[in-house]
Amino acid sequence: MIRRAGLLTAVFLADPVLALDAALPASKAITIPHELPYLPAGPGRAAFVTNCMTCHSPNYVLNQPRFPRKTWKAEVNKMIKVYGAPIPEDQVDAITDYLVSFNGQETGEP
Ligand code: HEC
Repeated sequence: MIRRAGLLTAVFLADPVLALDAALPASKAITIPHELPYLPAGPGRAAFVTNCMTCHSPNYVLNQPRFPRKTWKAEVNKMIKVYGAPIPEDQVDAITDYLVSFNGQETGEP
């Protein structure tokens, strides 16, 4: 038993990361922000929240420029076809409407 503890101490001292951990105060803590960005109310919001936040944060959507409708629809279909998002076909238009309503435009170039 003593021999084993000695070996562990040797490993501990040899590893600079472990040694650094030991030097930090035990009460050190960080808080990771987890607030969700504001998603405006409107038709399709529930469909968006249910289907589009399972894999990544809504920031992926909010950080995009104001895409035209056809680009947003293509984006929703890309999530389904390329990334395998399990989104029912009958939800695609509702989600697209919502995306266009707060971060898009009806026409325009992508
Ligand atoms: C099955 C998981 C999954 C779901 C569900 C999902 N996405 Fe994604 N999404 C991804 C992946 C993977 C990426 C690429 C991440 C990267 O490149 O870092 C991505 C990226 C994006 C991007 C960045 C642009 C791009 O094309 O890469 C947007 C915008 C986006 N998603 C919107 C949506 C919307 C809108 C929905 C709901 C319809 C949705 N996502 C649902 C997996 C998903």
